[in-house]
Amino acid sequence: MNAVYAGTFDPVTSGHLDIIERASKMYDILYVTIFVNPQKTTLFSLKERLELLKEVTSCFDNVRVDYSQDLAVSYAKKMNAPILVRGLRATMDFEYELQMAFSNQYLDDSVDMVFFMTRPNHSFISSSSVKEMASHQHHVTGLVPPVVEEALEKKFKKNKEAL
Ligand SMILES: Nc1ncnc2c1ncn2[C@@H]1O[C@H](COP(=O)(O)OP(=O)(O)O)[C@@H](O)[C@H]1O
Ligand SMILES: [Mg+2]
Repeated sequence: MNAVYAGTFDPVTSGHLDIIERASKMYDILYVTIFVNPQKTTLFSLKERLELLKEVTSCFDNVRVDYSQDLAVSYAKKMNAPILVRGLRATMDFEYELQMAFSNQYLDDSVDMVFFMTRPNHSFISSSSVKEMASHQHHVTGLVPPVVEEALEKKFKKNKEAL
């Protein structure tokens, strides 16, 4: 069976990567797919997020990086992947994910959501928190893969120069 791990990945963190590693062991093909949401502004462009994801997942043979503008359930069906993988950190995530699960069930009952619990050492990592730290020139070593750390450093150096 195939599965889709959907997200914004702005940028991919060690928390995401851990879910990717664990889910890739459970499914034949794991599509790690950036869903483009025009309502959300991102620090990294779609192209940059795709490149970073490709780089950090190149060690997993059955992981495919992709993007989509469809609804996640429609995309999952198209890819013959009836599972949407998500990660859970805290009750805050739970509320949001539950609402999304209900919406997805309403849209298409043949696609189910599967949740992976975060690890204690990843429980406070979010793309937003690492962006916040990096924007203040604080190191984010270990919270994100090394290539992402570099990309964040470059991004905020550039942003500072532009001020
Ligand atoms: N540190 C983490 N540990 C476990 N799961 C995580 C972590 N950070 C994010 N996730 C999960 O990864 C998925 C994608 O997250 P994200 O890139 O923020 O996209 P979205 O915009 O869909 O929330 C979500 O299910 C989120 O809860
Ligand atoms: Mg999120």
